Amino acid sequence: MSGRTKLGVLVSGSGSNLQALLDACAQPGFPAEVALVVSNVPTAFALERAKKAGVASVVLEHKAFGSRADFEKALVEKLVSAGVEWVCLAGFMRLLGVDFLGRFEGRVLNIHPSLLPAFTGLHAQRQALERGVKVAGCTVHFVDPGMDTGPIIAQAVVPVLPTDDEAALTARILKEEHRLYPLVVKLVATGAVRLEGGRVVTSAGPAVGELSLRNPGEPG
Ligand code: GRF
Repeated sequence: MSGRTKLGVLVSGSGSNLQALLDACAQPGFPAEVALVVSNVPTAFALERAKKAGVASVVLEHKAFGSRADFEKALVEKLVSAGVEWVCLAGFMRLLGVDFLGRFEGRVLNIHPSLLPAFTGLHAQRQALERGVKVAGCTVHFVDPGMDTGPIIAQAVVPVLPTDDEAALTARILKEEHRLYPLVVKLVATGAVRLEGGRVVTSAGPAVGELSLRNPGEPG
C-alpha cells in the first residue's frame, strides 16, 4: 500500500485540471494519487487523459438514472469501492446533493474560474468581462449543496486586459487553476488545510502562504 491519499476526480469535459492533478500525483513525494476518474459525459476528453495516465475511469451518465438520488448512489458506490477518500470536482457539470456530500463530509473540493463569491455558475469569465472587472481569477473551495458557494480555501488573481476576449481570459485563468488545484490537494492530503465547523482551518507551513495573493513588496 502506498499510503497516499486516494482521490476521485469527477469530470465532464476537457479535463485540463484533471491533467494538472495527474501530473502533480506523478511527482515523487506528492501525498495523493488519483484512484478513479468518473465522467458523466461519455465523450469527455478527460477520459483519454485518464487512460493515458493508466488511471481507472468510469462513465456514469446521469441521464441513465431515474433520479438524482440514484445517480449519486451509483457515484458513491464507484468511489467507495475504489477506496476514494477525497473527491475533486474538475469541470464536473452537476450539482451534488446532501446525501453524496454527507458521505464525503468535508472532503469534496471544487475549482471555479472566478474570484468567488463573484460570478458563480456557467460562463464565469464571460460574466467577468461583461461587468468590466479589472482583476479576475480562480477559487478552490469546499463543496456544499449550493452552486459555487462552499467555504473558500484558496484564490489566485490575474489581470483583465483591455484586449481580452473570453478565450484569452479563460486561458490566463486556467494557467492559475492548474497551479492552484494541486497545491490545495497537497495541503488537504497532508492535513494542513481542513474544514472545521464549516470554516477553513489552515496550519502554519510554507505552502499555506501560496493560498492567497501575496503583495510582492512584502517579505515571504
Ligand atoms: C475550469 O475552468 C474549472 O474551473 C471549471 O470548469 C473548467 C474545467 O476545465 N469548473 P477542464 O475540464 O479542467 O479543462
